[in-house]
Amino acid sequence: MKLPILIHPDPRLKKLADPVPDLSDDLRRLADDMLETMYDAPGIGLAAPQIGVSQRLIVLDCVKEEGAAPRPLAMFNPEVVASSDETSVYEEGCLSIPEIYADVTRPAEVTVRWMDRDGNPAEETFDGLWATCVQHEIDHLNGKLFIDYLTALKRQLITRKMVKLKKERAREREGA
Ligand code: NI
Repeated sequence: MKLPILIHPDPRLKKLADPVPDLSDDLRRLADDMLETMYDAPGIGLAAPQIGVSQRLIVLDCVKEEGAAPRPLAMFNPEVVASSDETSVYEEGCLSIPEIYADVTRPAEVTVRWMDRDGNPAEETFDGLWATCVQHEIDHLNGKLFIDYLTALKRQLITRKMVKLKKERAREREGA
């Protein structure tokens, strides 16, 4: 089932999300719905707060080669346990901030620990786009957006654009 994605600014995007205590079929279904929503958008990552659920759950799939097998990942309680000193710059975007892209500098390599959909602990070191994406999504669980890495002026400009976009969309929904 596809879920509606919250658009910035929204207080639910600024909240610290709660740890997932135990896995349940409901949470697994939520992860599946989030993956469906992400692929449909289309996007390469989605965090539970973006669909209004304040729980520490993210999904991602950064396979971008044409014809390559997808690699859907659902991470419960993901945590960065090590980061490289080396950094990389990617032009980031966010499904909660449509059509806005900006360069963000982050550690080039991160080791992430999480609980997988079977409740087992998992750990992996990511680099390239995967490293950027997993850090971007974990930021969402801490109420942080990629525009928080930009200057206050740029952030205000983007936020004003989003307020306008939300008004337009609300008007469209009302069927004016
Ligand atoms: Ni995002």
